Amino acid sequence: MTDFKRTLITTALPYANGPVHVGHLAGVYVPADIYARYLRLKGEEVLLIGGSDEHGVPIAIKARKEGVTPREIIDRYHHIIKESFAALGISFDVYSRTSSPTHHAFASAFFKKLHDEGKFIQRASMQFYDEQAGQFLPDRYITGTCPRCGNERAYGDQCEACGSSLNATDLVHPLSAITGNVPELRETTHWFLPLDDYQEWLAKWILEEHPEWKPNVAGQCKSWLDSGLQPRAVTRDLDWGIPVPLDGCEGKVLYVWFDAPIGYISATKELTPEWETYWKDPGTRIVHFIGKDNIVFHCIIFPAMLKAEGSFNLPDNVPANEFLNLEGEKISTTRDWAIWLHEYLVDFKDKQDVLRYVLAAIAPETKDSDFTWKDFQARNNNELVAIYGNFVNRALVLARKYHDNRVPPRGIITARDRELLDEIPAIIARVEASLDAFHFRDALREAMSLARAGNKYLADTEPWKIAGSDPARVETILNICLQVAATLSTLMEPFMPFSSARLRGFMNISPVAWKSMGDAAIHAGHPLGEAGLLFEKIEDDAIRVQVERLEEKKKRLAADTRQAAPVKPDISIDDFAGMDIRVGTIVAAEKVAGTRKLMKLTVDTGTDRRVIVSGIAEQYTPDEVTGRQVCVLVNLSPRVLKGIESRGMILMAESPDGKLSFVAPDGKVAPGTVVC
Ligand code: 2FM
Ligand code: ZN
Repeated sequence: MTDFKRTLITTALPYANGPVHVGHLAGVYVPADIYARYLRLKGEEVLLIGGSDEHGVPIAIKARKEGVTPREIIDRYHHIIKESFAALGISFDVYSRTSSPTHHAFASAFFKKLHDEGKFIQRASMQFYDEQAGQFLPDRYITGTCPRCGNERAYGDQCEACGSSLNATDLVHPLSAITGNVPELRETTHWFLPLDDYQEWLAKWILEEHPEWKPNVAGQCKSWLDSGLQPRAVTRDLDWGIPVPLDGCEGKVLYVWFDAPIGYISATKELTPEWETYWKDPGTRIVHFIGKDNIVFHCIIFPAMLKAEGSFNLPDNVPANEFLNLEGEKISTTRDWAIWLHEYLVDFKDKQDVLRYVLAAIAPETKDSDFTWKDFQARNNNELVAIYGNFVNRALVLARKYHDNRVPPRGIITARDRELLDEIPAIIARVEASLDAFHFRDALREAMSLARAGNKYLADTEPWKIAGSDPARVETILNICLQVAATLSTLMEPFMPFSSARLRGFMNISPVAWKSMGDAAIHAGHPLGEAGLLFEKIEDDAIRVQVERLEEKKKRLAADTRQAAPVKPDISIDDFAGMDIRVGTIVAAEKVAGTRKLMKLTVDTGTDRRVIVSGIAEQYTPDEVTGRQVCVLVNLSPRVLKGIESRGMILMAESPDGKLSFVAPDGKVAPGTVVC
C-alpha cells in the first residue's frame, strides 16, 4: 500500500427513502470513517466520499405510498441522513446526492459514451405491464408467490423470505403492486452491458490479481463468476431517474445501479477540480466500503462499466461487511425493526462515541453480528467507563494531586516502567497492522489494550501509597501515565473522535501526530487542563426505555402479521361433514358484464357441469382461470347473482388485504375427488 500516493474511500450511497440505522453504520460508515481518519492522522492524502442514492424504485414506491412526489421524499431523507452522519462525526469530504445536476450530466455522458462506442447490446424482452396504471412494472412493483418457498409476498426481483433472487416472470400469480391487477407481458427494448464479455477479465482481475480481498467478498464473486455472467440491463421503464440520453427513449431511465456508483465519481468532481487525479492517476488507490448485498455491483458490474469506459481506475479493495442484526432479528427498514441514527442522537445526546465504539467492536466483519441494548450498556460501563475513562481520570487526578496539575519529569526508569514503555509502540504497530487489513474490531481491541495496560501499571505501581516516601518515583510513574493518556488521545481518535477532543481539552494539548505517539508524546512541565469524566455510566433506566420501545415494536409487528380474521365459534364434525367439497375444473370463464368483481365460471365437478359466479374478476382474467383445478363447495344452496344462478362456491384463500388465491390440490386429480 505504500506504493500509493493517495486513497479515495467511497461509502455505499444510502437510498434516500428512509433514515440510516445502526446496521448501515456498523457495516459501512463507521469502518470507513475510522479508516479515513486513520490515514489522515498518518498524514496521507485521502478523500472520504459519500452521498445519497436518490433514484430507483424504492423511492418511487415510497412516494406513491405517501401520495407525494419522489422529489419530496429524497429532499426529506437526504437532509436527515446528511445531518445525522455529520452529528456522528462521519468525516465526509463531500456528501453529495445523485439528483444533483453534475451527477445527471456525468452519468448521462458516461452512458452515452458507452452507447456510442458500441459497448451495449440492445434487446427486446417481454416485461409486465399494468394496463390500468399505464406503465411497465419494475421488478419491485410486482408481487406474487415465490416459486422456491411459497412466500406469497415475494417481489419480482427477490424473495425476502428465502433470499432467492428471482425474475418477475418466475413468480406464481404475479400482481401489480400499483393496482393489484394481474399484469400482462408486453415487449419493451433495453440496453444491456454484456457482462459475459468481461467474464474472463473479471475472473483474472478478482481471483488472481486480488488474493488479498476478504474471503466473503472473493467467495461471492467466485460464485457469480462460476455460474456464468449474463448481459445485464442498464436501463429501465420508469418515470423516476436519469432519462436515457438517446432519441426516442421517453419513459426510460438509467438503471439505478448504473447511475449510483458513477455517483462516487461525480461527487468527487463536485468536491474538487483535481477529481481526475483521484480517478485516473494510477497512484490513487480506491477502496469501496459496502455491505454484503452490494458486492456484485461493486466487484463485478461497476468494474465492468469502468473497464468498458476505459479511462478510470478500478477499485483496489472492497472490504464488504456482513449484516448487523438487532436483538437477534434481521434489521428491517420496512418493518421499522431498527435503531435509527437520528433518534439515537436525540436519546443519547453527546454519546456519539459510545455508539461508534460499540458498532466498531461488534462490526460484522466475517459473519453477521448482533446489537443488543444490554451489550451496548455493558460495553459503555465496563469498557469505556471502567477501562479507558478510568485510566485517564486516575492519571489526571493524580497529576493534579501530586504535581500541581502539570506533567511531572521522569526520573529513573525501572523494569516495570520499561515494560509499559515498550508496550506502547508494540500496541501501535498492532493497531496499524489491523487497520491496514481492515480488521477494525481487532484494531479497537488492541487500542483498548493500551488503556488496560495503563490501569494495570497503576495498580502495580500504586503511586498513591508512596507519595509521602518517594515523590520522585511518583513523578516518574505519572509522567509515564500521561504519555499513555496523550498517546490514547490519538490512537483512539479514528474510533472515537469526540472523546479524543475532550481528552485533549482535559490535558490542554493540541492534537498529537500519529508518529509522535509514544513515550515522548507530552513534555514534562506542560500545564494540564480541567479534567472531567471522559465517559459516563449509562443507567438501567435509559436502557429499559430502549428495550421497551423495541418490545412495543415487536408487539405491533406481531399484530400486523396476525391481522387474520378472528376464529369463528366451534362447529361439530357433523357440521363439517355436511359440506360437500369437490375438486372441479374450470372449463369456461367470462366476466359478468356491468360488474368489476364477478366472473361467470363453468365448472366440471365430476358429477355435472354447472355455473358458479365468483368474485375473482379484479384479480384474474378469464384466460388465466380456464383449465385450472379448484375446490368447490358443491352443495351450497343456489343463489342468483346479477340474474345468473350460481350453484356452489369456489374456495379461495383471502389475505387480510383482500388478495385472493385459489385453493387447489397440489397435483392433478380427477374431477369430483372429495375434499375432506
Ligand atoms: O444498497 C443500497 O442502499 C444502495 N443505495 C447502495 C448504492 S452504492 C453505490 F453504488 F452508489
Ligand atoms: Zn422464497
